[in-house]
Amino acid sequence: MLILGIETSCDETAAAVVEDGRRVLSSVVATQFELHAQYGGVVPEIAARRHLENLLPVIQGALDQAGVLLTEIDGIAVTQRPGLIGALIIGMAAAKALSYTLGKPLVGVNHLQAHIMAAFLTETVPAFPFAAMVVSGGHTNLYRVDGFTEMALLGRSRDDAAGEAFDKVAKLMALGYPGGVRIEALAITGNASAYNLPRPRVHGEPLTFSFSGLKTAVAGRLKQHPEILADDAARCDLAAGFQEAVVDSLASRAWLAMEQEGCSRLVVCGGVAANGRLRQVLQEHAQDAEHDLFLPPPALCTDNAAMVAALGYRLLMAGECLDLTGDVFSRG
Ligand code: KG4
Ligand code: ZN
Repeated sequence: MLILGIETSCDETAAAVVEDGRRVLSSVVATQFELHAQYGGVVPEIAARRHLENLLPVIQGALDQAGVLLTEIDGIAVTQRPGLIGALIIGMAAAKALSYTLGKPLVGVNHLQAHIMAAFLTETVPAFPFAAMVVSGGHTNLYRVDGFTEMALLGRSRDDAAGEAFDKVAKLMALGYPGGVRIEALAITGNASAYNLPRPRVHGEPLTFSFSGLKTAVAGRLKQHPEILADDAARCDLAAGFQEAVVDSLASRAWLAMEQEGCSRLVVCGGVAANGRLRQVLQEHAQDAEHDLFLPPPALCTDNAAMVAALGYRLLMAGECLDLTGDVFSRG
């Protein structure tokens, strides 16, 4: 069964063709980084307008790359939530038009749950149940996953998402947008223990994340010592210290969630899961603890439509379908 996936929830216009929820025949992603960089973050109206321009060429590109005709597609999967409303509407309108004209089923997908499906697009796939941590620009969520459509939320961030913290700290350090990759690049040569940065916890809620205190701590350091920004070594140290604090917070809660749920398998996905240091720490710990870790390749961790098609396939198999009045939602 061939599913065309469409993703427009934020600043990436993406389309993909996936066979039977497993085999990626094509995955095309048009990023808008440069467009939003000058504003230091995603501008919702600009994102929506760019999706409008990019979406049909991106869909055509995905069909061409897969060597598939539009008429050979068996179903359309589209991100329905969460995301920027104007951006989601563009994807949904295109998906509805395709579903209507082709007479093929349409299914709406939760973007966060779709991120988890990236783990099923690689050779070795996790068996159920497993714990999953979705670390993206807008969310930091822990789930217990018992089946393709059975995902229970175990914990999330009470304030900033991990990716948001990377982006905000990058802005404080004048590194530009998007922040994650730029901080990672600086951190490579930095000394992570040069600055003592906090690992905020929420009393009585061990699986709740919190990153705003860490961001405030970095802001405080920079206010006290503005000279850091003019010193290459100090910038690298601060980036490394911040990255290590985020990685610690993420990894420690992921292990806790596994322990609590009695799961020996962990999937980590979402844009921040592309971070090399996070991958290294998770891999080392999983090896020591003899846990099975599933880390999709970076291109499947950041936003893409293959994950949307993969979840769409599972939902269609479970009998879920959206009619042409289906709405979009900003929340997850
Ligand atoms: O999942 P994603 O592509 O989009 C959302 O659904 O939000 O995640 C984007 C987030 C951004 O905050 C970006 O800074 C972060 O993922 N990110 C990274 C890295 N690559 C992307 N954070 C840390 N290290 C990276 N290498
Ligand atoms: Zn995402």
